Amino acid sequence: MTRRFRSREWFDDPHRPDQVALYMEKYLGWRYSYEELRSGKPIIGIAQTGSDLSPCNRVHIQLADRVREGIREAGGIPLEFPVHPIQETGKRPTAALDRNLAYMGLVETLYGYPIDAVVLTTGCDKTTPACLMAAATVDIPAIVLSGGPSLDGYFEGDDLVGAGTIVWRMRRKLARGEITEEQFFRACAGSVPSMGHCNTMGTASTMNGLAEALGMSLTGCAAIPAPYADRSTMAYQTGLRIVGLAHEDVKPSDVLTRDAFLNAIATNSALGGSTNAQPHLQAIAAHVGVELKPSDWQLYGHDVPLLVNMQPAGKYLGEGFYRAGGVPSVMYELREAGLLRDTLTVTGKTMFANLDGREAENREVIFPFETPLSEKAGFVVMTGNLFDTAIMKTSVISPEFRARYLSTPGNEGVYEGRAIVFDGSEDYHDRINDPALNIDDSCILVIRGCGPVGWPGSAEVVNMQPPDALLRQGITSLPTIGDGRQSGTADSPSILNASPEAAIGGGLAWLRTDDIIRIDLNKGRCDALVDEATWEARKADGLPAIPASQTPWQELARQTVGQLAQGGCMDLAVKYQKISNTVPRH
Ligand code: FES
Ligand code: MG
Repeated sequence: MTRRFRSREWFDDPHRPDQVALYMEKYLGWRYSYEELRSGKPIIGIAQTGSDLSPCNRVHIQLADRVREGIREAGGIPLEFPVHPIQETGKRPTAALDRNLAYMGLVETLYGYPIDAVVLTTGCDKTTPACLMAAATVDIPAIVLSGGPSLDGYFEGDDLVGAGTIVWRMRRKLARGEITEEQFFRACAGSVPSMGHCNTMGTASTMNGLAEALGMSLTGCAAIPAPYADRSTMAYQTGLRIVGLAHEDVKPSDVLTRDAFLNAIATNSALGGSTNAQPHLQAIAAHVGVELKPSDWQLYGHDVPLLVNMQPAGKYLGEGFYRAGGVPSVMYELREAGLLRDTLTVTGKTMFANLDGREAENREVIFPFETPLSEKAGFVVMTGNLFDTAIMKTSVISPEFRARYLSTPGNEGVYEGRAIVFDGSEDYHDRINDPALNIDDSCILVIRGCGPVGWPGSAEVVNMQPPDALLRQGITSLPTIGDGRQSGTADSPSILNASPEAAIGGGLAWLRTDDIIRIDLNKGRCDALVDEATWEARKADGLPAIPASQTPWQELARQTVGQLAQGGCMDLAVKYQKISNTVPRH
């Protein structure tokens, strides 16, 4: 044994034999012998995110057995424990509210129990950032094991029906009367034909891909579909490796450097990754103490081309992406183009070394850097009098949308439209088809009260569908703006994550229906064309109302949460860094 692990404080405290005995009494009856627990081997946590409530991560219940085998083989002692469930589509009022709750719970678990290193089991959208945020705060050796996407979906002869994306596409067909409700449900059920997380490049595939880009998982981990045999092998290898990381004392703070985050930002553009990556990466950076600014997304991400032909920006799904080479093949292209920095990773080698020999095997799925699917695929970071910071994912702007809104000769990229303002999604659903609003294809739909404080938790509601009458005319999307987020599987060009949000006095609070908004993508500006005096006078009306908190956590979350531009972390949590440098008292 090369080093004394922190778990020795529990199992080997010469001053408190009574305490040691108490722990022994409980842990002994279960799996491990007295001698083994006293032997000085590292104790490895398996942070289990799968459950019946978290079906996207349920594969981890089986995978954990393979992780254990790897840990035992390498001479560690595995202890599996539950993480607070976060399921994207089931948790109300939004799974995003629970990212910080799961984070906080995992911090307490990792810090307060005899755990020397941890395997983070990730999958569904927020499970990846919650786990990485906690590992960053506690700063014990940690490794990410992704659960992997489901197999590719299928329905009525279409073999590429993508989870999430199909919902957004089919609900437009439903509104136009082209399909029945039964077909709608069947198509959506068919999009997830096996266990695994969403098979599109939504937030789940994005965040697992970025965990790999950050250097926090074994090479090639993110993209392996959940049911594949390779996934089980990856679980075993991850179990083997975490014991090495424990002995080498490689901590998240060694891996999660600013260079690692800049690699992740560039990789996100090439993947066509979710807009949710912005707050989540910001949050991980904040907890590990790395300075990452919203403007870094523009500086290091915007000009990177889209390489991955995967829904919602492209055509294919998880199986095709894995077989084409997955994340390492995308990063290989970026490395060759000089867009990556070499970083330390949990593999024991550097990122550049990990990528050797990882050239893509299918150029229809992973495009070469020189001839990408599209140029400049990163987020545009915007500012103006409606917010300090918001982002827009330009890779999902369709040619029709670009032609309709952003191609005025001599004024490309600039659009002026009439605002239709909704306070929350109930208001949107109640009024979107109201003829009195007179919504036509020149309008910009705005939703507010959907940020971390307003919702609470920040909801994926900004990708608002046009009124049915417009859909029937073939207008499938209007420009939208909001202080909430949008699903990573959505293919709408929205201005999202507006910070500060309306609920705390951001500019959207003072916008009124029929105001003219000017969007200038070239300058990254978005402004209400309202004179200063009128704007100021509206402040006398007070902030738009938000719903009351319904649970204690909602109230606590509202009191402590920051804005999306900074990651939506609990402000008070950010000051707790590298806390495993101290020992909890007993
Ligand atoms: Fe859980 Fe998509 S809803 S991964
Ligand atoms: Mg989502």
